Amino acid sequence: MGIKGIQSIIPKERQKDFIFVKNTAMHSKTIEKFSKLSKGEKMVWVARNFFDNPEAGLQVLKQYWNQDDALQKLHDEFIENTLSNFYLPFGVAPNFLINDELYVLPMVIEESSVVAAASRAAKFWLKRGGFKTEVISTAKTGQVHFTYNGNHQLLQAFFLRVKDRLVAEVAPLTTNMQKRGGGLTNLTLVDKTHELENYFQLSATFETCDAMGANFINSCLEQLAQSWQYVYKQDAEMQAQNADFSIVMSILSNYTPDCLVRATVCCPVADLEATEDLSPKAFAEKFVQAVKIAEASPYRAVTHNKGIMNGVDALVLATGNDFRAVEAGVHAFAAKDGRYQSLTHAKIENDIFYFWIEIPLALGTVGGLTGLHPLVKLSHEILGHPNAKKLMEITAVAGLAQNFAALNALVTSGIQKGHMKMHLLNILNQLKANEVEKLTLIEYFKTHIVSFTEVSVQLEKLRQVSTIN
Ligand code: MEV
Repeated sequence: MGIKGIQSIIPKERQKDFIFVKNTAMHSKTIEKFSKLSKGEKMVWVARNFFDNPEAGLQVLKQYWNQDDALQKLHDEFIENTLSNFYLPFGVAPNFLINDELYVLPMVIEESSVVAAASRAAKFWLKRGGFKTEVISTAKTGQVHFTYNGNHQLLQAFFLRVKDRLVAEVAPLTTNMQKRGGGLTNLTLVDKTHELENYFQLSATFETCDAMGANFINSCLEQLAQSWQYVYKQDAEMQAQNADFSIVMSILSNYTPDCLVRATVCCPVADLEATEDLSPKAFAEKFVQAVKIAEASPYRAVTHNKGIMNGVDALVLATGNDFRAVEAGVHAFAAKDGRYQSLTHAKIENDIFYFWIEIPLALGTVGGLTGLHPLVKLSHEILGHPNAKKLMEITAVAGLAQNFAALNALVTSGIQKGHMKMHLLNILNQLKANEVEKLTLIEYFKTHIVSFTEVSVQLEKLRQVSTIN
């Protein structure tokens, strides 16, 4: 890399240390104290060691910096070693009628057809009473995992003796949450020795109100562990056993089957849409069969649930929640009965079509990114500043709507027609079509089947015609 490209990101006195020298051996080199380098130095180190064209690579990284320095600094400080920002589209899906209130859903997602599918499903159900939701429970748990090889009854009796003290010692951490109606709501000793030798848990249940609550729960658990260890060491009866007792770790669980929400749609079968080949009744029956297949076959269930998560994750991301936690918890829930199954269910009863989802969603509307990221703040504004329960409901609806749209397509025209239509622009961009070419081919593919090959062929034809002309 020439000195020119690094001028803007490395202080003058250090530029000589960062002149690019092609050195492929550097790929296998480790680096000490990388986090102590300035952002510019980190960029140059990565560029000169890993980019085929370091100058161009640096330009790409810089291209995504925000012009507003304060905003860029905010993003830099979310994580360590930030080099740039990674954009994802932020879109909205309007017309969601949820419990008789209208919502516009902010969605962050890269997959072409997801927002369009959500919007279609919203519009469909808008005319049929909308979505109804109910938060079933809001409990979250965490565990102090420990080992103990002494007498089990003695441990249980000891736990009951000290339980109040353990709870009292967490009180300073829970006071604020208690004022908001939450806190530590239960504490039990769980014997897990039938699953792993000498393994026990202190299992704590929490109510975290509008916070996702990870930091709150983890702080409480670490305090519980400390108190538990202390009282154990002080107790003459426990010490007399001379047993091994050791705290292994204390951490919240992202498995939240008791932080559960349900969303439902229903309408008379006759009100469903007929297609060329299917009457509303035949459509409803095929739809229910498709859901039953996802209940019966894990191979189908995973894809079925993936489609649900297209909607859920888009909302989770837009509202600044932790999508990894939600994903882990949701999939564990889908497998709770010993086999991975569909999160949605459907039935026809007395000529009424019912379709619903039950999904664990541990979400927050305060704390974390919610007060920091400007687009996250806007998402909450678009949603009318929901509390955590309302956000659980809206997010479950996003999942149900997405699944409705996917199944609707799968049991009628197939998924590719709509998907490839939405993907057409990506293909045209990949083939570097100009605006006129895009417009022409979008028109052409309104009546033709989209595939990468077909788009390439049509684009080539178009270019040949314009060369001849
Ligand atoms: C694609 O992102 C999601 C679908 O595969 C979901 C499904 O098959 O139900 C369309």
